[in-house]
Amino acid sequence: MDDFALQATSLSKSFGPTRAVDGISIAMKKGEILGLLGPNGSGKSTTMKLILGILKPDSGSIVVGGIEVTKDPVGVKKIVGYVPETPQTYEFLTGLEYLDFIADMYDIPHEERKARISQFLEGLQMAGHENEMIGGYSQGMKQKIAIIAALMHRPKILVMDEALNGLDPRSAKLVKDLLRNLANEGISVLFSTHVLEIAEALCDDVAIMYQGKVVASGTMADLRSQAGLPGSTLEEVFLKITGTGELDEIVRELSK
Ligand SMILES: Nc1ncnc2c1ncn2[C@@H]1O[C@H](COP(=O)(O)OP(=O)(O)O)[C@@H](O)[C@H]1O
Ligand SMILES: [Mg+2]
Repeated sequence: MDDFALQATSLSKSFGPTRAVDGISIAMKKGEILGLLGPNGSGKSTTMKLILGILKPDSGSIVVGGIEVTKDPVGVKKIVGYVPETPQTYEFLTGLEYLDFIADMYDIPHEERKARISQFLEGLQMAGHENEMIGGYSQGMKQKIAIIAALMHRPKILVMDEALNGLDPRSAKLVKDLLRNLANEGISVLFSTHVLEIAEALCDDVAIMYQGKVVASGTMADLRSQAGLPGSTLEEVFLKITGTGELDEIVRELSK
């Protein structure tokens, strides 16, 4: 179990009659980039909130970095960084003030935070904008600040909910490179997307969610062989694995 950054087993969560997450099991190895792929409403964000201890599961167990989430939600927050679907940043702070504020919360020493912040600002091509107010940032710039904020405390696991959505292609490439570097350093990344090509470009492993269930999971190669479609695209695999009903709609959703 030491090889796993995350193990969620038989996880369920309903909101009234809606089974948002319906008995799923997910495992993520250390240093892996795992993509949760699925159309809107398939349960990706709920899964992430359960993993982060923000929501309590109706049943099932979640172990993150060796910590059982329902028993020690605070312990989990120390080792996990989270970029929510719609990050709340403070419009009237500058990017730098905001990151400083986050670093204060985690008690990060001044020299270390300075080096760390400037390294990330450079890496994500945000250097030169750090003294501008967040309110004036583009969606993509806000997203980048939220990503840096999530990495401030050197989390072992980074959870990103649709975090590449607001980015232009060049920025998406920068974030992809950053994630790949993090993964090489042993940090595990769980990210969700409803965009097939993002998952295809980025993940080591993919779990395809549909209506609260994981309908397929594994490496791209595994999924291709499960579908009996060697050399195929994720879209073709997805079509095959999810069967025929409502397919056009799902693929349209995923290809947006
Ligand atoms: N707080 C909530 N209250 C009621 N229903 C919710 C809530 N959060 C999510 N849901 C429902 O749960 C299902 C899964 O949602 P979500 O996890 O946000 O999916 P995704 O992130 O894949 O789009 C949807 O039907 C959604 O409407
Ligand atoms: Mg979502």
